[in-house]
Amino acid sequence: MGTTAIYPGSFDPVTLGHIDIARRAAAIFDKVILAIYDTPAKSLVFSTAERVAMGERAISDVPNARVQAFHGLLVDFAREVGAKVIVRGLRAVSDFEVETQMALMNRQLSPEIEVVCLVTSLNYSYLSASLIKEVIKLGGPSEGLVPDFVAEALRLKFTAQAEAAPVPRWLTG
Ligand code: PNS
Repeated sequence: MGTTAIYPGSFDPVTLGHIDIARRAAAIFDKVILAIYDTPAKSLVFSTAERVAMGERAISDVPNARVQAFHGLLVDFAREVGAKVIVRGLRAVSDFEVETQMALMNRQLSPEIEVVCLVTSLNYSYLSASLIKEVIKLGGPSEGLVPDFVAEALRLKFTAQAEAAPVPRWLTG
């Protein structure tokens, strides 16, 4: 049967750092599910379906990895798909505190599930989806941050957002 691992996150959007961790996990575990949380407590640029579509495209060449959205508690989703392992990526010491807290909470909720943290490649250790969104929104280059199709999707989103919310005339005088 083999070991199934889930790699959860908001993935808004998937970055080269996430893809690096997903690939590392797929090299260790028999099956990896990139688990996209549908309602994170942050403002999202992409819908769940869009995040899933980009995740699928990002790991389409990894035969033992797939993408699935989830709702509710992560440990419940892990049980549902028969996953014994939760994978998370570590970029820097600053990630350690929040990851330890989440891992201990998940252990409290479900002691049979183990959290495994994988250290990201040095090239991607400074990446975060929120910083990438800011850079691309402000017209910065996307090379080395996200796949080209994600950069294109981000640019389309930001253009659409700007067009949908024109500055009212009373504000500009
Ligand atoms: O990419 P993120 O935002 O760091 O991912 C956080 C995520 C989705 C892994 C976390 O918020 C989560 O597991 N949410 C599901 C709800 C849940 O189980 N919360 C308790 C986690 S300790």
